[in-house]
Amino acid sequence: MLVRLLYASRAAAPLKASVQDSILEQSRRHNPARGITGILCYSDDLFLQVLEGGRDEVCELYNTIARDERHREVRILSFEEIRERRFGHWTMGHVNLAKVNPSLLLKYGERAELNPFAASGHATMALLEELISAALVVGRGS
Ligand SMILES: Cc1cc2nc3c(=O)[nH]c(=O)nc-3n(C[C@H](O)[C@H](O)[C@H](O)COP(=O)(O)O)c2cc1C
Repeated sequence: MLVRLLYASRAAAPLKASVQDSILEQSRRHNPARGITGILCYSDDLFLQVLEGGRDEVCELYNTIARDERHREVRILSFEEIRERRFGHWTMGHVNLAKVNPSLLLKYGERAELNPFAASGHATMALLEELISAALVVGRGS
């Protein structure tokens, strides 16, 4: 059975490239064997991540990630059973939220800024799906 989980969190410290690289390296090392796909969006102070895969694998990985000291205030925004993957091309694609067009943020939110802690999980997921079609996700197939 496949599930999709979306969470948001705040970076424990302003995000450095080295932290970002190490998270992506860990994702690429572990996710394929666990059948996990998804995307990781980040800005200076925020993470948004979609995890797709088997229910046990997604829950186990989420529990590991939630304990990671590189972020805090980890909040599940959505968890659902799915029939097919939407982020299946990415072992863990990544998106720099600073590069997202403000008009795209305005389409799904009250202001041209991202606040997933206040927005509905549905709106945030719709934004992430649009990021895929806008080809802003890096790391396809890696
Ligand atoms: C925002 C964030 C996203 C993460 N995403 C993943 C992931 O998709 N896959 C993964 O294996 N680890 C991910 N991690 C890292 C895990 O929390 C954990 O540090 C790692 O899996 C441990 O790997 P290691 O035992 O090889 O060092 C993430 C961490 C953070 C802070």
